[in-house]
Amino acid sequence: MRICDRSKCSGRRSQEKGRREILDSRHSVAGRAGVSICRMMETREMDRRKPNCLVALIVLLAAAVIGADAWKKDEFKRCDQTIFCKDARNRVDGSSNWFVSEVNVTNGKVRARLIEGGEGEHVGGSLILHLSAYEEGIIRLKVKEAEAKRKRFEVPEVVVKGLEDRRLWIQRVIEKDGASMVVLAGYEVVLLHRPFQLYVRSGKETLISLNAKGLFHFEQQREKKEGEDWDESFRSHTDSRPHGPQSIGFDVSFYGAEYVYGIPERATSLALKPTKGADIVSEPYRLFNSDIFEYLHDSVFGLYGAVPFMLSHSEKRTTGFFWLNAAEMLVDVMPKEKTETAEASRIDTHWITESGSFDVFFFIGPGPKDLIRQYTTVTGTSTMPQLFATAYHQCRWNYKDEADVAQVDAGFDEHDIPYDVLWLDIEHTDGKKYFTWDSVLFPNPKDMQDKIAAKGRKMVTIVDPHIKRDSNYYIHKEAQSKGFYIKDKHGRDYDGWCWPGSSSYLDMLDPEVRSWWADKFAYSSYQGSTPSLYIWNDMNEPSVFNGPEATMPRDNIHVGEVEHRDVHNAYGYYFHMASSEGLRKRADDNDRPFVLSRSFFAGTQRVGAIWTGDNTADWDHLKVSVPMLLTLGLTGITFTGADVGGFFGNPDPELLTRWYQLGAYYPFYRGHAHLDTKRREPWLFGEPYTSLIREAIHTRYALLPYFYTLFREANLNGLPLMRPIWMEYPKEIETYAMDDQFLLGSDLLVHGVYSERATSEDVYFPGSQMWFDVRSGASYSGGHTVKVPVIPESIPAYQRAGSIIPRKDRFRRSSFQMENDPYTLVVALNSSYEAQGELYLDDGKSYDFEKGAFIHRLFTFSKGRLTSVNLAPTEKGTKQFKTPCLVERIILLGLRPKDLSAHRVLIESSGAQVPAEVGAPLLRIGYHQANSLVVRMPNVRISDDWSIKVL
Ligand code: NOJ
Repeated sequence: MRICDRSKCSGRRSQEKGRREILDSRHSVAGRAGVSICRMMETREMDRRKPNCLVALIVLLAAAVIGADAWKKDEFKRCDQTIFCKDARNRVDGSSNWFVSEVNVTNGKVRARLIEGGEGEHVGGSLILHLSAYEEGIIRLKVKEAEAKRKRFEVPEVVVKGLEDRRLWIQRVIEKDGASMVVLAGYEVVLLHRPFQLYVRSGKETLISLNAKGLFHFEQQREKKEGEDWDESFRSHTDSRPHGPQSIGFDVSFYGAEYVYGIPERATSLALKPTKGADIVSEPYRLFNSDIFEYLHDSVFGLYGAVPFMLSHSEKRTTGFFWLNAAEMLVDVMPKEKTETAEASRIDTHWITESGSFDVFFFIGPGPKDLIRQYTTVTGTSTMPQLFATAYHQCRWNYKDEADVAQVDAGFDEHDIPYDVLWLDIEHTDGKKYFTWDSVLFPNPKDMQDKIAAKGRKMVTIVDPHIKRDSNYYIHKEAQSKGFYIKDKHGRDYDGWCWPGSSSYLDMLDPEVRSWWADKFAYSSYQGSTPSLYIWNDMNEPSVFNGPEATMPRDNIHVGEVEHRDVHNAYGYYFHMASSEGLRKRADDNDRPFVLSRSFFAGTQRVGAIWTGDNTADWDHLKVSVPMLLTLGLTGITFTGADVGGFFGNPDPELLTRWYQLGAYYPFYRGHAHLDTKRREPWLFGEPYTSLIREAIHTRYALLPYFYTLFREANLNGLPLMRPIWMEYPKEIETYAMDDQFLLGSDLLVHGVYSERATSEDVYFPGSQMWFDVRSGASYSGGHTVKVPVIPESIPAYQRAGSIIPRKDRFRRSSFQMENDPYTLVVALNSSYEAQGELYLDDGKSYDFEKGAFIHRLFTFSKGRLTSVNLAPTEKGTKQFKTPCLVERIILLGLRPKDLSAHRVLIESSGAQVPAEVGAPLLRIGYHQANSLVVRMPNVRISDDWSIKVL
């Protein structure tokens, strides 16, 4: 009975089972059986009366036999089960009754009073509004209660520190026709007085508005009336709501919009479908970080992370809206409307939150890249990962012991498959006490890591935020004595159920707790850790198996008497931040942290990578991974991936192979699987699959220089690696809802294969230039959809004509071993026989690049000549980076037949002549087409200026 081995039935098994039954009790015998156990857990009896193994087995088998539809939506609130959401959703257009008075300019900002009431009659309290503007088309609007009973929570650590330096000093407002107008460079903000409405306009064009539909509603905090009951119950939980109703809601309209995008995280299309309107019956999009067990592949339901940022796009403009608020939020999207004045359409949206502040930003574009720059000016750009983190990661719940780790590591070498990181899930710990090791299974963790590190590889261990309430556990003892846990509504350390059983949760909102936590990663503190060990933060929504909606009660208390309801969506972000800070500290700021997190919030891009959680091994989940990652990229979070192979279930070898092929283009590339799944290391399915997966991973390794260059772009400008087609081709309307293909950077077009035994896929080639198949070199002209043949060896991927992509084509065991390998430059010529591309590189590890230690080259092909020039700033930093790397091969695609006569080319910088061959097949991946020319061993240095006369 494997299911109960190691007498851990009352440990992991029952926890997993208990968790399943809590989250997993719909429509099935298994579900019904689970309900009684679920009740037990909810009464916390679980601690003492752990259900026996047999019951667990029966329930799990029943679930498997019945094939239950696993996601249990009844475990999560619908909008009509929450007073604030139901009320807001029932509000009719024009019901808002606020007007503006006392407009003035103070301290470079517009200040005004908002008063509730009809004509001349003042019925409610009053609010204070502050409007400010920042460089590059960013507007911020804050609204606060004039006399707050209790300060509303303002989410710290999201807006970047330097933002205020970019604030524009508003000198005056123009009063005209019952409105106040602020004129800024290229646009104006109009504050309509009665009713209160805000419009951002550019000339005659309205871009975006707030309260144009009259749904602004601000529940001011008040005393409880006699006999009034503020409690709100859901299933067996009651939220005491001690501060009463305090929700905020309003409408935002995007003018000229064709579609809206953003507000992750959910498994659904890239272009957000309407949720409200005639004939549409849907829940609103929910932003409430949740550990949703076996999520569906197409649902509006919110998953593990939240970014309250939405963009709209049309041929003319991209605009955006961000609400800095971490409480539960719901967003309705209405169907596109035609405006009265123009052909242009408008999309209305309705935003509702339970509590927290009104602190919103408008971004005016005009293009998609401008918009992302504006949003990341506010919330920050992506942190620069280490090179190893951009390579392939091998994970599973769990690699059992040190011998298993050694075998998996050796398996990669035996099968000539590179990988960089081997991961250990929760079973590596002593009883789910993080920062510890199971002494039987992992008696020599340092040796184990050192052996892996000897090949330039790394390891990752999991560290979750629930702390086992075990009086012998040093983390618990310290946290408890220092008062570092989140408190329940009675002021006691909150005690919830997670993997270790009874657990408490660190108050990561508190900077002192974060700093203490960060110190726990010091080598002296984390016994058995070495410099090659990095970290994985999971369950940080936070997931609480027996809590309301599988998280902690909203009336729990954080530092400063802040209620959990206000912080909820940012909790995982603070935890991720503290862990990442820990890795920085342990290495004296000399080693870039790598911490993967499941939960996230706006700003997470500054901290590290995230993945899309517990997906399923089926074709739909493979397909939805693309819109999920594209959406994350649009909302600033660029280092993202989905579990390759699917977490739950057993992929057949074809699905697994297709997943490896698609995953090779995800920014974060990791294979992972649930504990109950069959082993699926890449060589376990025999041929042809081992070779196919090897080739997929090789594709990733070859492209690492291109990936790393794109990561730097994300670091500098916030631009995502994975881009919707319209980000690069903003006027191509047919691409606006396209989410089965994407661009990696601007130069690679990728289309997954999402069905069994596919023989073709419809690929849309954007732009007016050609695209070259990265495998065969076959060319396709832009502006068409083509049914392209699909082969088992690869998924459709194309290089843009006019681009130069740097690759490293020698395959080693890990990225580290490729460090000094020579480059291949793939030059795809456009119709003018020109092309351009960039390469960024540094030591792949430290922060020296911030002091100037990097190389940034620009390659240009023009007039038959390929040149390389420096793009890095000429003023020297305090550090330098040097590399001995050469260029070993230049591949030219898109040549005219007459150009193919060249058999030798001239290295102008040295006067040497080197051979060139037509259409020669290359190492493992390459081009066989006759329109390609391969220049062999030009041997110029990648870091030097040079010029090569080819044609
Ligand atoms: C849930 C995570 O999403 C999954 O990736 C992990 O394997 C399990 N927790 C166990 O740690």
